[in-house]
Amino acid sequence: MKITVLGAAGGIGQALSLLLKMKLPAGFKLALYDVAPVTPGIAVDLSHIPTDVAVKGFAGDDLPKALEGSNVVVICAGIARKPGMDRSDLFRFNASVIENLVSAGASICPNACFCIITNPVNSMVPVAAEVLKRAGVYNPQKLFGVTMLDVIRAETFVAHSLDRAAGTIRVNVIGGHSGKTILPVMSQVGGFEFTDEEAAALVHHIQDAGTEVVEAKAGNGSATLAMAAAAYRFVNAVVRGLMGEENVVECAYVEGGSPHSRFFSQPMRLGKEGWYKVLPYGPLTQAEKASLEGMLPTLRDEIRQGEDFILKPEPAQPAEKSS
Ligand SMILES: NC(=O)c1ccc[n+]([C@@H]2O[C@H](COP(=O)([O-])OP(=O)(O)OC[C@H]3O[C@@H](n4cnc5c(N)ncnc54)[C@H](O)[C@@H]3O)[C@@H](O)[C@H]2O)c1
Repeated sequence: MKITVLGAAGGIGQALSLLLKMKLPAGFKLALYDVAPVTPGIAVDLSHIPTDVAVKGFAGDDLPKALEGSNVVVICAGIARKPGMDRSDLFRFNASVIENLVSAGASICPNACFCIITNPVNSMVPVAAEVLKRAGVYNPQKLFGVTMLDVIRAETFVAHSLDRAAGTIRVNVIGGHSGKTILPVMSQVGGFEFTDEEAAALVHHIQDAGTEVVEAKAGNGSATLAMAAAAYRFVNAVVRGLMGEENVVECAYVEGGSPHSRFFSQPMRLGKEGWYKVLPYGPLTQAEKASLEGMLPTLRDEIRQGEDFILKPEPAQPAEKSS
């Protein structure tokens, strides 16, 4: 099986590539691509780690070689947030990156699973969907927005607050991946009932955690290492499903699983052809229902922004005449 990481020279890309090289099963192939010319060197560096995962790096015009025969394409290419920016500020630049990379994927490895990390995820996944549709190869079962960072943050913060061992708590996070569209379902955390105040404080921390990292890094990037860990967990789940393992369940942002909006994040089963069944996340409390209703207009707007980027592109501005 072959995994391709696009944006592999970046903060997320390098850390994710390291995890994949270290942890993928023997015999897997790993292809790294980035516009940065250092990328083949990153692959040489990784190739000295003693695992039986073959790694090759590509840059510049060699995107087709990185995508050839790929089963899973992970996209973390684009620009990241700086202090004062929200995820929507990234939209225009990153939408073009997603359009170009997914167009190439659509022609070279149309049957691959596409996992989109690039922000704003709520809009980038619709961009990718419309690009795949335009190419006539869209399979909603194989296109994922990676919202796993919100899940691992929720699981970490909840375990902390309950004084439980890290990794022993599962939390479903539904909706999307921006501000209030991130909705951790605190009422369904097994074996514990939070008061409304406790739940609200945890939800606020989870929704704000991205900004906390951006500010703490003081202008030098957004979440990369926890994101890479989250992406590894998600990509590994997709791979386990593709390899036929049963009962692989994770949350992701996909089309077709929810009455709330065209794309929605929720828990789902992953199998040989991508995700195949969304799972219930349990009854919501009144407060959670209100949060869900309150965020849906934002989520739908962000989805429309992504769709429109492909379906209703703004006319090109005429070039300014030089005098
Ligand atoms: N889904 C999430 O939860 C989540 C979390 C954190 C960050 N992100 C997003 O992930 C993206 C990457 O973040 P980062 O911190 O790794 O950024 P980064 O700037 O460190 O890396 C981005 C990489 O993309 C490369 N790139 C740019 N355009 C490209 C193109 N057309 N083709 C190939 N490569 C290209 C750059 O050369 C760079 O190496 C950002 O959009 C960021 O907002 C998502």
